[in-house]
Amino acid sequence: MHLILHDLSPEQARRHLPAQSETVRWFDAAPSVKPCTGCYGCWTTAPAGECVIPDRGQEFCHLLAQAGKLTIVSRCYYGGFSPDVKAVIDRHIGYMLPYFHAYEGEMHHVPRYERRIELAWHLYGDISEAERETTRRYAAANERNFHAASHTVAFYDCASATPGAEERPHAAPASPPVSRVAFINGSPRGDSGVSTKLLKLLEAKLPGIEIVHGWRAGTACDAFVFAFPLYVDGIPSNLLRELAAHENDMPPGARVYALVNNGFYEGTQNATAIAILRNWSARAGLAWGQGLGVGAGEILQQASLMAMAPFVARGSMKRFDRAMDTLAGHILAGDGGEDLYHTPDMPPRWGYMLGGDLSFRLAGKKNGLSKREMKRRL
Ligand SMILES: Cc1cc2nc3c(=O)[nH]c(=O)nc-3n(C[C@H](O)[C@H](O)[C@H](O)COP(=O)(O)O)c2cc1C
Repeated sequence: MHLILHDLSPEQARRHLPAQSETVRWFDAAPSVKPCTGCYGCWTTAPAGECVIPDRGQEFCHLLAQAGKLTIVSRCYYGGFSPDVKAVIDRHIGYMLPYFHAYEGEMHHVPRYERRIELAWHLYGDISEAERETTRRYAAANERNFHAASHTVAFYDCASATPGAEERPHAAPASPPVSRVAFINGSPRGDSGVSTKLLKLLEAKLPGIEIVHGWRAGTACDAFVFAFPLYVDGIPSNLLRELAAHENDMPPGARVYALVNNGFYEGTQNATAIAILRNWSARAGLAWGQGLGVGAGEILQQASLMAMAPFVARGSMKRFDRAMDTLAGHILAGDGGEDLYHTPDMPPRWGYMLGGDLSFRLAGKKNGLSKREMKRRL
């Protein structure tokens, strides 16, 4: 079956998409499905493989399970999808198993289904060259993440009156001294997430700076720091929606910094999400500061691992601390720097993957799921 996820109007869909049939199914991203909450219920509660949020997003998981090809037709936002399309995408991680392995040199999830899907991305709008480049890298990352058979990317130029349409000229960034910095936490897990921990660590490195939280508080700020998790190689839909909503009302002259963490081991996997935020900054007329991608972010949540870190992972912790110092230094200086990526070396990748497998298995067991039920196919 060929599944087409799209954000076209009914009229545009009729005009541009192959007609629905037994072998072609459309999934309209509107009305919006709820954003993923990061609960992992799709892996650890019955029926495994299906999102636990009771709305149309569940149907998408079932359709995808039957699909040999997934076409995504979306307005391009900053080199990625529209918030409505991204909300659907974030809800289908149950398509993979919770377990981990090394795949094409990176840590990834083990597939739930044998069939290797073909991916085709069709992005439309007024798309800048930087956004095209981001999209190409994003799609290639997605092919690896979902063990897809192939991916293709096509762009369709069309003028647009919606956000994401124009790049605004950069206002000159605020000159030092930097005195007020806004923290925007884009994690759906809120205060219990890794992003909150990272922001606390960063705050401790910004003495004398007034830190304010949230978009509204940020109206008179010298800098914005966005902390968020990597979701399906991109920005979580809840944050993407907020970025689009605020694109045209950002204070001119502020700089943008990113603190992105991911569940897989390699910090470099955060590169596309950082690029998407950088493209948003260009649209919003803001200057780019620096991005820091933190691999194996979940380690920071594990009190027992953190307690051992000074003894067994001192080198790794020092490197991480230095990267945070560099980011803080640029924020304080009101300037920018090359994006940085941190990948730990302790625990080793195999140990981190084993620990992850075990914690998902235990969470499933606690909910009464057998090993077989966790691997169930929809
Ligand atoms: C819907 C969803 C998609 C995710 N996609 C990725 C991914 O593509 N790559 C990755 O390394 N981690 C991925 N993760 C893992 C999160 O990035 C990781 O758990 C992170 O530490 C969560 O940070 P937070 O607590 O700040 O929300 C995903 C998690 C969820 C819930």
